[in-house]
Amino acid sequence: MNVINLDSELKEAAYQEVEASRNTVEKDPYRLKHHIMPPVGLLNDPNGFIQWKGIYHLFYQWMPFKTGHGAKFWGHYTSRDLVNWEHEPIALAPSEWYEKNGCYSGSAIEAFDKLHLFYTGNVKDENGERETYQCLAVSEDGIHFDKKGVVAELPDGYTAHFRDPKVWEHEGKWYMVAGAQTKEMAGRAALLVSENLYNWELLGDAAGSNTEQLDEFGYMWECPDLFRLNGKDVLIVSPQGLEPEGNLYQNVYQSGYFVGELDYKTAKLNHGEFTELDRGFDFYAPQTTVDEKGRRLLIAWMSVPVQDEDKHPTIANKWIHTMTFPRKLSIKGENLLQEPVEELKALRKNEQVLEMVKITNEEVQKRETEGAVYEMILDQIKVEDSFKLSIKKNAELHYSRRDQLFTLTRISYADGHPESRKCHLAELTKLQVFVDTSSIEVFINDGEEVFTARMFPDAEEKSSVFSSEGETVFHLKKWDL
Ligand code: FRU
Repeated sequence: MNVINLDSELKEAAYQEVEASRNTVEKDPYRLKHHIMPPVGLLNDPNGFIQWKGIYHLFYQWMPFKTGHGAKFWGHYTSRDLVNWEHEPIALAPSEWYEKNGCYSGSAIEAFDKLHLFYTGNVKDENGERETYQCLAVSEDGIHFDKKGVVAELPDGYTAHFRDPKVWEHEGKWYMVAGAQTKEMAGRAALLVSENLYNWELLGDAAGSNTEQLDEFGYMWECPDLFRLNGKDVLIVSPQGLEPEGNLYQNVYQSGYFVGELDYKTAKLNHGEFTELDRGFDFYAPQTTVDEKGRRLLIAWMSVPVQDEDKHPTIANKWIHTMTFPRKLSIKGENLLQEPVEELKALRKNEQVLEMVKITNEEVQKRETEGAVYEMILDQIKVEDSFKLSIKKNAELHYSRRDQLFTLTRISYADGHPESRKCHLAELTKLQVFVDTSSIEVFINDGEEVFTARMFPDAEEKSSVFSSEGETVFHLKKWDL
């Protein structure tokens, strides 16, 4: 079989899977109304996020043939407004020798008026040993991609866990940051440089575990992203191998950031502490881009690798996982703030406004609303002691002023028991909550903290219930979406 045929055969097989499973997938009560999902099979990392010639492109890691991981394709969505997304033809199928076990994660840039995708070719040899290749594919129309093959081999000193290239331009050269593991099993963000996009040279590690600036901090760093924002350099990365520490690092793997200054000559990022981007259960492998409005936007996979995927309620209907809503990043001091993009306001219908809602001791206010998919803003919140918002009897937001602690509790889809994630919060003044059929995204104090999670309530359940100890006061706005 020649390779051209293999490529079209793989794509054809994926399209057939989409057709054959369409009814099963679409009847699933947990299909989301406004989030990006796979048409069938498994979706993981966002890839190649870019606005190109006015159109937003978001590619994604896709396994069309099962709800588990494997030889990934790049699925492709486009949008003009970050709200309505159209599924496009498959961008990359794992058809060549250098990617036969998966076209793994990567990024997109524009160069020479063409769209360039950098991604990792994942290969397992006959003995199950891993090989890794950084690859390039180029498109003139943003839909059809011409594979240019391997542009960077594995540099010395690293294991084959070297992947997820994120590329950008700086002063006439291109730079690539890749997720890496040293032979000593330290997670790193490796920095490479190129003058022509086809030949790449290692500069060194911008940051990582067991470096001058950081003690032991994970055995592998996945999906790095390095960019400038408000006069600082920010490295986002997903380290694997952090032990839980109090309320921190509670998920199997984490995603977070370092803020600092990148020295392009020494390849070093002079950075501060690692901070988790999201405090919820389901957030991993985020990727950012700058759009034509100059905004730094972020989208993440709303899940974490290998966390009870076999118990996920949607696998019975042949699909699994979704993306977060797009968020706009900004910096305040040393902290990244994340806010939902303003385009999402276009989804708002049936506004309800309640000025000065007051909930007192022991008293529970119950407000049921139309529709199960909504956005809610609680503003000018004043909590005397503690405040609770229970959503569809399946998730609960709780703020304790005394303990300065914010908690998200949900009913676990794996065992039906409540489970919690918490973070320190000095004061609660504003809550913006997006509830889709099976997800919740909570933005606290205009993006100071964010909690993202899947939830699987009864399809008929629509209640949101406020309660408080002591007095809680707020202004409420709510919209169906
Ligand atoms: C992160 C990740 C990446 C890899 C991809 C494979 O979730 O493991 O490191 O490129 O997923 O799908």
